[in-house]
Amino acid sequence: MLKNKTIILGVCGGIAVYKSVELLRLLVKAGASVHVIMTQSACQFVTPLTFQTLSGHPVHTELFNLLQEMEIGHITLADRADLFIVAPATANLVGKLAGGIADDLLTTTLMATKAPVLLVPAMNVNMYDNRIYQRNEGILREAGYHILEPDCGYLACGWEGKGKMPAPATIVEHATALLAEKDLVGETILVTAGPTREAIDPVRYISNHSSGKMGYAIARAAQQRGARVILISGPVAIPVPVGVKLVSVVTAEEMRQAVLAYLDVATVVIKAAAVADYRAAEVSGTKIKKGSDDLMTLSLIKNADILAEIGAHKEGRVVVGFAAETTDLLENARKKLLSKNLDMIVANDITEAGAGFDVETNRVRFLLPDGEVENLPLLDKSEVAQRLLDRIARMRGH
Ligand code: CTP
Repeated sequence: MLKNKTIILGVCGGIAVYKSVELLRLLVKAGASVHVIMTQSACQFVTPLTFQTLSGHPVHTELFNLLQEMEIGHITLADRADLFIVAPATANLVGKLAGGIADDLLTTTLMATKAPVLLVPAMNVNMYDNRIYQRNEGILREAGYHILEPDCGYLACGWEGKGKMPAPATIVEHATALLAEKDLVGETILVTAGPTREAIDPVRYISNHSSGKMGYAIARAAQQRGARVILISGPVAIPVPVGVKLVSVVTAEEMRQAVLAYLDVATVVIKAAAVADYRAAEVSGTKIKKGSDDLMTLSLIKNADILAEIGAHKEGRVVVGFAAETTDLLENARKKLLSKNLDMIVANDITEAGAGFDVETNRVRFLLPDGEVENLPLLDKSEVAQRLLDRIARMRGH
């Protein structure tokens, strides 16, 4: 979603500047064309050369620099931007903007832009709590500026509290959401993700290799496109997407209960979770000890098929399933599509390179009840999520 977008990254002087370098790298990696404006104090922390090398564009530092103005003037820069990010935004910058002061290149360009502005404040906790600062932030919010809340934690000045610049990846998520087309507004999308775990005893469990990456990518993209998202997730090790409601579960039965509890409000259900088909018939309360026999038998009992249950009572909802297969991909996926009464199934052969569990990419096919099959190339999971949501948006008449 950031591909080919023009972003101005304003950098003020604060110790968090080192994170802005990583932010720039992520924005460029996502395909954005980034032009950096640094204040004089920012240049005391990191040299413009670092930002210039990573952005591939000259860094702008001075208002009255004839050479810089000749290449691309600050008004042109302001006009050209799809988004303006200031990270870190200092108390000084926020105060100046709130007071309408434009006395350097950054403040002048900020005042001249019509692009959405995302401010990422980072400062000492007492500065952040200062009533004058808070009043200034309030003025800017009211004027339509988007302001990220700082994180809490250990601050470079030695204090602990609110004032840390959020992780660059979080800032990118907010930036992406600001630029996304909001074609899923009004939808409530329930996404399941990750594996489930079925206990055998207090130490062991049955599970699978699902990392949750596909489901989390769908949840993130849907939220950015304006949907309300409820993410029901098994145990995974990835951060919750910004703005998404997370419901954590462990077992298949807990996932089923959570899905049923939120089903009434959902207009779309996407079941990307790898649900365990069986659980231990008996869960031992104590650790099972090794016996003298070489053979050990574990009795399993079938879990309810959550997707089939939802498919049987769709009540106007769009219901999408996933099929991870190792053999007869299309045939097996089609069977699941029809037997579970789905509107679409996303099929992938997990034996293919770059597809399946715990990788960043996937190669999927969309199968529809009318026999249509769309073959997608190997794509980033975030891009697969976008294509899937394009289909859903159409099905929901957007
Ligand atoms: N699914 C579910 N509840 C289950 C098992 C699966 O909701 N108890 C959902 C998954 O979330 C996925 C789809 O059904 O969207 C297909 O899951 P998969 O494990 O591929 O298929 P199964 O129906 O379990 O069939 P099999 O394991 O025999 O391939």
